[in-house]
Amino acid sequence: MSQPSRTITIEQLNTFIADAGLHSSHLLHILHAIQQRFLHISHEAVNEVASHLGLPISQVESVVEFYSFFYNTPRGRYNILLSNCTSCGYKSGGENLLRMLCHRLRAVAGKTRGDGLVSIDETSCIGMCDHGASLLVNGMPITRLDADKIARIADLVETETPLADWPADWLRVDDNIRVITGDLTAASGKPSRMASSSTSGLLLNNDFVAGGGLHAMLARGIEGTLAEITQSALRGRGGAGFSTGMKWKFCREAQGDAHYVVCNADEGEPGTFKDRVLLHSHADAVFEGMTVCAAVIGAKQGFLYLRGEYRYLLPHLQTVLARRREQGLLGNSILGQQAFNFDIEIVVGAGAYICGEESALIESLEGRRGVPRNRPPFPVTHGYLDQPTVVNNVETFVAAAHIALCGSAWFKSVGTEKSTGSKILSVSGDCAAPGIYEYPFGVSIQQVLNDCGAKSVQAVQIGGPSGALINPAKFNRKLGFEDLPTGGSFMVFGQGRDLLTIIVNFAHFFAHESCGFCTPCRVGTTLLKNSLDKIAGGHGTQYDLDEMKRIGELIKRRSHCGLGQTAANPILDSLQRFPQIFEQRLAHGNFEPYFNLDGALEEARQVTHRDDAAAHLE
Ligand SMILES: Cc1cc2nc3c(=O)[nH]c(=O)nc-3n(C[C@H](O)[C@H](O)[C@H](O)COP(=O)(O)O)c2cc1C
Ligand code: SF4
Repeated sequence: MSQPSRTITIEQLNTFIADAGLHSSHLLHILHAIQQRFLHISHEAVNEVASHLGLPISQVESVVEFYSFFYNTPRGRYNILLSNCTSCGYKSGGENLLRMLCHRLRAVAGKTRGDGLVSIDETSCIGMCDHGASLLVNGMPITRLDADKIARIADLVETETPLADWPADWLRVDDNIRVITGDLTAASGKPSRMASSSTSGLLLNNDFVAGGGLHAMLARGIEGTLAEITQSALRGRGGAGFSTGMKWKFCREAQGDAHYVVCNADEGEPGTFKDRVLLHSHADAVFEGMTVCAAVIGAKQGFLYLRGEYRYLLPHLQTVLARRREQGLLGNSILGQQAFNFDIEIVVGAGAYICGEESALIESLEGRRGVPRNRPPFPVTHGYLDQPTVVNNVETFVAAAHIALCGSAWFKSVGTEKSTGSKILSVSGDCAAPGIYEYPFGVSIQQVLNDCGAKSVQAVQIGGPSGALINPAKFNRKLGFEDLPTGGSFMVFGQGRDLLTIIVNFAHFFAHESCGFCTPCRVGTTLLKNSLDKIAGGHGTQYDLDEMKRIGELIKRRSHCGLGQTAANPILDSLQRFPQIFEQRLAHGNFEPYFNLDGALEEARQVTHRDDAAAHLE
């Protein structure tokens, strides 16, 4: 591929779009290709793409505007995005690495440097929380940042060193699979080929053989396999915990011209990175779970929706898909069964957390902005292209593949009554061993803290910003649908942390990621963010705390989708469990306005050289 450049003729553009479309005619795919090649998506490009795909120009334009990783003005040849996740973030350890990098490269955050060399900005969590402060440069993750590495990055950029010549170990992303405690190896009925696993997890063992689940499914029959999934009581691992067996059954029974399987690999919840590891080291089990699902619901086409931040995993995933086709595990006549045809396409997202919400994800798959649909109808009856569609999380498909292989009794032999099996946790923050842990459901917070080497803990955030902030008195609480449900994020905050800064970070995250469709969320998340900034700046009063409670409750009740319905959780939780973190920052007095009108006039006073009493409001 030729080097990125901003200049382009219409002929070049047309040839380029036609070539990009040969690989996939998907709108996001073509826009990604244009963004990478020409560093932005110009009006001309929008027009040509619209005409090439037969779409309204307004649709293509609105998609470019919606997604954070598409730009309509040129980015630098080095496009650097620092993760602002609070768990691993660039402001931890007292160093503001973003400011440092901008200073060294004489760049302004959010703008492209005049010579077009570099753009630097911050972005929401990139799923590298087990690697410390991290960034993406032209889509490639660089982790374990510190002041020294930032200085070296600045030099490499300034000398225009190609990324391929940067230190190879900088670009390495480890799995960081840590100890797996609990009696997972004791799971009964485990077939012998899985018993000798060196890594003793239920799902995180290394012995899953590609095709094993499909062979077992064919031996058991489709109906029997669905019965196993249902009897296993597997619940979705994406957060909501809906019964996977029921979801597959509803979809199987739904009428439609075609059925679809979608794997939700959008993993945007800050502090979550377990799907990254599953996609990297257990991709066969992910694709196998999707293929089992396809057989059950009668789908011929599947999609894996990969978050834009994980684009670096694409070549690896394509390789696994190609190998599975060669092995007869995908494509036509899978394992020699004439009527069993199924294949998987990977669609890469473009930096929008809301696209993890299943109906927004489907909108995105269809080449539109990721705005959640009205529900009902649910995707199982009206999903992709309005056809019956199963959307499941990466981990859910991995669990389904293992259940197809080992059966429901094996799966249910660990966990609790309402939360069967295991849960994979992404553990990050102030602990000695951040990484991936697999536990039987029902494990206590304290147990996880002991295992990951967390000492002197002030609070734990379970389930990401939309989850729950737990204080030490409640560390005996248990992870599971009966007590603390979680999509897998487990963020540890030590005594040295300023909890208010963390809550402020979460509020900024939601205000930034709100898709803007409904007023309570669009306006409410911004109001909450402003109130918290005001309190953190020492200007908040009791009035602001009361307002935050009122607005928080309103957003919760009136928002259209789960993002808005949970956006106030961290604030409402911490107001209840950690009131002191707000109260100690309050200004005296009952009320201070958000806006200092007299302060805002300062510039005008300076310009007019006036500072007399009449030039002030009071
Ligand atoms: C704002 C928002 C973001 C979400 N992000 C994800 C995600 O990244 N991955 C995921 O599997 N589910 C996510 N979900 C949940 C999905 O809507 C859906 O419930 C899930 O993909 C279903 O799969 P499961 O039954 O296997 O959990 C999100 C929901 C909301 C409201
Ligand atoms: S609640 Fe927020 S994210 Fe969800 S639809 Fe409304 S504006 Fe969009």
